Amino acid sequence: MTLPKLHIGDLTASFPIIQGGMGIGVSLSGLAGAVAKEGGIGVISAAQIGFNEPDFRTNTVNANIRALKDQLKKAREKAKSGIIGVNIMWRGRHYEDYARTAAENGADIIFSGAGLPADLPVCVEGTDTKIAPIIGSPKAARVILKLWARHHNRTADLVVIEGPKAGGHLGYTREQVAEHANDGYEKEILEILDVIKEFEEKFHKKIPVVFGGGVFDKKDILHYLSLGLSGVQMATRFVATKECDASDAFKNMYVNSKAKDVTIVQSPVHMPGRALLNPFICAVRERRMPVTNCFHCLKTCDPGTTPYCITQALIRAVKGDVDNGLVFCGANAWKIDKITTVHNLFVELTEGQEVVRD
Ligand SMILES: Cc1cc2nc3c(=O)[nH]c(=O)nc-3n(C[C@H](O)[C@H](O)[C@H](O)COP(=O)(O)O)c2cc1C
Repeated sequence: MTLPKLHIGDLTASFPIIQGGMGIGVSLSGLAGAVAKEGGIGVISAAQIGFNEPDFRTNTVNANIRALKDQLKKAREKAKSGIIGVNIMWRGRHYEDYARTAAENGADIIFSGAGLPADLPVCVEGTDTKIAPIIGSPKAARVILKLWARHHNRTADLVVIEGPKAGGHLGYTREQVAEHANDGYEKEILEILDVIKEFEEKFHKKIPVVFGGGVFDKKDILHYLSLGLSGVQMATRFVATKECDASDAFKNMYVNSKAKDVTIVQSPVHMPGRALLNPFICAVRERRMPVTNCFHCLKTCDPGTTPYCITQALIRAVKGDVDNGLVFCGANAWKIDKITTVHNLFVELTEGQEVVRD
């Protein structure tokens, strides 16, 4: 069976595959540009994106804004006419500054999760940038779409459902994660689709809905399409590609991992996160790691009590210090046994289906 295109208003992706944004520094222009070129939607993570800038420690916000503009420009050059999105975590400070920068610098779509991005519609005003909330439950879908309807008289252009098998921060309790260890979140997906339908009718507009979290191969993609979804969001599989912007050591952690290494860690964001077990996780389970330099990155983090600095832990990992950093991953990371190219991954996922652009 061939895969359908993904239509988001006037944007069309050749394949219904969105590469999930991965911070810090795991999905930048290298990965996003390559995915967009292959006919998927490539997504840059804006989370502390300026971490390689010389003034990142002293001038964090400006460094992030400069790097975001630069990464968008580079991704666009690589993607040719492909679709480039930016993922911005709502819990991050200066959210509106980053969202405006992304919109003004040509992001085709902004994805926002980890909270309710109430003011995202204002940030994209006057631009063509589309908006996509990332939600995990029917209640969250209803709350954000109601807020946007009431305060901005508009709705989402796309909705991402992120299930409990996703990587990075999870919008679920540990109990909910355990409860869904052996299913594909199907019951909740159908309930969420019912909620979205109400807003499609209200705004006379198609709102495509995609699902992310544990999607691994073409069989999984077809399964989710059969539920009435318009596509999938995949992240873990894109880590093990040459084009992924993380260090080889980070990618090799995936290749060498076993099922027992995929674990849940408490994050300073006050959400559980999924990551690969390493000496860093063992250490933070035993004791607090005092913050030596606060980057003021999160609205919800107190540097005086946080168990560790999430920015520092993620930067160490992405740069290759995988024993002393946090290596986020999805539930199926252990299934990965080699590093491939984005092109070959698309050939596998689509069974060689040709990229046809409109
Ligand atoms: C290394 C890594 C980092 C991630 N970082 C973010 C992030 O910064 N913001 C976000 O919304 N989602 C983040 N995610 C979640 C992905 O965007 C995606 O929705 C999810 O991992 C999909 O599940 P899969 O990895 O099983 O394909 C991250 C996932 C991984 C694996």
